[in-house]
Amino acid sequence: ASSSLVLGIETSCDETAAAVVSRREDGTGDILADVVLSQMDEHSAYGGVVPEIAARAHVDALDTLIAEALERSGVRLRDIDAVAATAGPGLIGGLLVGLMTGKAIARTTGKPLYAINHLEGHALTARLTDKLTFPYLMLLVSGGHTQLVLVRGIGDYERWGTTIDDALGEAFDKTAKLLGLPYPGGPAVESAARGGDERRFDFPRPLVGEARLDFSFSGLKTAVRQAAEGVAPVSDQDISDICASFQRAIGRTLEDRIGRGLQRFKSEFPETHGVPALVVAGGVAANQELRRVLTDLCGKHGFRFVAPPHRLCTDNAVMIAWAGLERMALDLPADDFAFAPRSRWP
Ligand code: KG4
Ligand code: ZN
Repeated sequence: ASSSLVLGIETSCDETAAAVVSRREDGTGDILADVVLSQMDEHSAYGGVVPEIAARAHVDALDTLIAEALERSGVRLRDIDAVAATAGPGLIGGLLVGLMTGKAIARTTGKPLYAINHLEGHALTARLTDKLTFPYLMLLVSGGHTQLVLVRGIGDYERWGTTIDDALGEAFDKTAKLLGLPYPGGPAVESAARGGDERRFDFPRPLVGEARLDFSFSGLKTAVRQAAEGVAPVSDQDISDICASFQRAIGRTLEDRIGRGLQRFKSEFPETHGVPALVVAGGVAANQELRRVLTDLCGKHGFRFVAPPHRLCTDNAVMIAWAGLERMALDLPADDFAFAPRSRWP
């Protein structure tokens, strides 16, 4: 199965994506084509993703994107060994479009279908780029998810922590909106924070000190609102100071939460050979301040910090194809055509 070729399809949120990936002899992946169409412009006027608009945009774009991915890869449809499509979690309209398209291609070509959990795609991506062995810890920080996951093996995951309210990316987006910065908020907040005084506001660091490994970010948003109201009319310098202080609070929170996770990993796997690894994924992984905090933290605890290239951290179809390839390599069964999309799928 070392030369298997998989066509991947991703439509769970606001990116329509198709990719062709194969697996090398050494166990890493070879990306033959990686096409992503962002619907950002269609949603930005609404300050967030509108499910109905997203579903229609996937319908409009997906067939062309798949054709483009195949053309770029130089692989003919009949030479594909399997089709992998995201089956959840996500917006149901988009999932239906992608999974049904995947099923149709698999059916007409007679190839197996893998219905992939989007989060599993994020969790396994680092194995495509780095020779990473199990077990490892994965921090997923995106617009929809904030999870610390123990990755024991393919299909063998244990969630150690999750957000009890807003996702981290959501906190960035809501903070940006409050401050009148553009959507998506993450990059806007990060650049506004440059030149800001991170000590001006003392924002809350929810759950810090608690033994459980969960996260909470909704209080931070409230504190940002109060800070902005307190200094109104808000100047550009105020915005920079608020953004810098906001990122600092998040950095400190993650230091505590993830630090505890790393300690727990070491106590549960004292026998693990080699250097343990923390992998980061999701759009918020683009944040330089966050990367700095995690790099320092890993150094302190003797962990290797693995951050796949940014393009593979955000939503894409490469990770979906790769999850299919990982299952094929273990001869795990393909999925039934009756597999229904799941908007919720832990
Ligand atoms: O993984 P992603 O592209 O899409 C999903 O949510 O699935 O993540 C998007 C999220 C948005 O909330 C965006 O504001 C955030 O990632 N983000 C950032 C940065 N770039 C994107 N957050 C903080 N700093 C950034 N530089
Ligand atoms: Zn994602």
